[in-house]
Amino acid sequence: MPSLSVSELQAERAKFKPVLPAILKGGPASVTPRSGPPTVSVADPDTVETLFPQTYGMPLVTFVRGRNSGLAKKAVKVAVVLSGGQAPGGHNVIAGLFDALKKANSKNKLIGFLGGPSALLENKRIEITASLMDAYRNTGGFDMIQSGRTKIESPEQFEKTKATLLEDGISALVVVGGDDSNTNAGLLAEYFKAQSAPVSVIGVPKTIDGDLKNDEVESSFGFDTATKTYSELVGNICRDVNSARKYWHFVRLMGRSASHITLEVALKTRPNVTLIGEEVLAKKMTLAQVVEEIALVVARRAELKKNFGVALVPEGLIEFVPEMKELIGNLNDVLAHNEAKLSAMGSFDEKKTLVLSELQAHLSALMSSLPSGIQAQLMKDRDPHGNVQVSHIETEKLLVDMVKARLGEMKKTGKYVGKFSAITHFFGYEGRCGAPSNFDAAYCYALGYNAAVLALNGLTGYLSSVRNLVKPSGRWGCGGVPLTMMMNVERRHGKEKPVIQKALVDLSGAPFRELEKFRDAWALEDLYLFPGPIQFFGPASVTDLVTKTLRLESSAR
Ligand code: FBP
Repeated sequence: MPSLSVSELQAERAKFKPVLPAILKGGPASVTPRSGPPTVSVADPDTVETLFPQTYGMPLVTFVRGRNSGLAKKAVKVAVVLSGGQAPGGHNVIAGLFDALKKANSKNKLIGFLGGPSALLENKRIEITASLMDAYRNTGGFDMIQSGRTKIESPEQFEKTKATLLEDGISALVVVGGDDSNTNAGLLAEYFKAQSAPVSVIGVPKTIDGDLKNDEVESSFGFDTATKTYSELVGNICRDVNSARKYWHFVRLMGRSASHITLEVALKTRPNVTLIGEEVLAKKMTLAQVVEEIALVVARRAELKKNFGVALVPEGLIEFVPEMKELIGNLNDVLAHNEAKLSAMGSFDEKKTLVLSELQAHLSALMSSLPSGIQAQLMKDRDPHGNVQVSHIETEKLLVDMVKARLGEMKKTGKYVGKFSAITHFFGYEGRCGAPSNFDAAYCYALGYNAAVLALNGLTGYLSSVRNLVKPSGRWGCGGVPLTMMMNVERRHGKEKPVIQKALVDLSGAPFRELEKFRDAWALEDLYLFPGPIQFFGPASVTDLVTKTLRLESSAR
């Protein structure tokens, strides 16, 4: 019988043993790093090089077989910190780190900083023991050591972090995070190197959003499980609309910026309308044009006596509509420049008056035209990295209201005859802490193990990279990608900053082209697919499925 504090499924799932890539099977001492040629950043190379004189241009690293017994000689302490939003599989990253360190030398220690990067400033940490680790293997969530969004960016914070790590004899820090957190990892690696502090910094690509990827990093972890979770829910809704035939469901899906999650869920479930933020931006569509596009599908379905359907809306849509993007950019600057004044103000109306007076005239007019709920959501505090908290903006409700109004106009001219009854949903937090799929359980374990091998080899400023992900995990390749290689310069908090470039949906890429090929048919015919829940047991054809995004991208390579 499982203990009272774990479910029956958790008890069974705890027994799952992720298969390590063959190259890592013999342990850290059986591989050596092989360096490729020097690298350059994806954009703005001169600026990035100036900002990272110590770590710019480092080579790509691949692990190859070779005796590396020096690694095991002296016991070391390595620390891990989880940064940003939760993503399924984080505990397995820690398990991979733990097992690799213990395999190299049973006296090695793994320290977990508690509650995200702020713990590095407060020195809040625990030692991860074997029994603690075993309680969290293959589980979702980050609750073992928790996460946070504090940004370590000032020289004082860098210095405090260095003192914390050196005081405790920690020789490597592993930062598990998204693009912003790994940018910070790169800055920290640069700082430590410039200060000759003997601490390496290694990043691990985490985010359900799927936007931390490039030629060397095929996917961030958590995307697989989160999209499988959302696809189950959206598939269930598709079946419901097809049964009841009386509602339109508007589903907003997480993904702060890029629309990868929405695209993947669409490919898995075939809804009637799928909005992709990157396409809206490329076509320079106004909000009114986006609404028109949806209203036309609703009207055409109504002609077929189908007053029902499913529309997927990416969370980041609002920032892709050029006029809204411009408004948000100007708002960010206005909010940053008036921070003190605004925080001294009590009422929302007072704040709004100041903001409206400071915005450029045409943007002030646009802001005033939005419902006051959306205005308030747009003015909410930015996250510590300067991003709008799009998860708090109810774009799906805004769209439903606007579509309803447009259909009303169309009705008057006889262009629409039907009934529009809409229900809205937001699926976000539901997908971030699910028990990791087989893919994420194995990928995270390999990423953690590989991060430990990078650290044990004294490498710094690298992102743990595990490749060939469409193959079975035993055949994955392992190594590291310099963090500076992924950087470009962007405007944040009103200033130019080096950041890891976000991977947006590529409109000429295979996943988007697949959607383009079929979406007209999906709009009118009811070709819904019902992927069902994540399978942990049973035939590999269902337990070991990789995302459609990964499969399509890899076959196009
Ligand atoms: P990360 O990029 O930190 O992984 O987080 C992604 C995300 O889940 C977004 O999809 C979402 O917009 C955001 O976090 C929500 O943030 P919070 O957890 O702070 O509400």
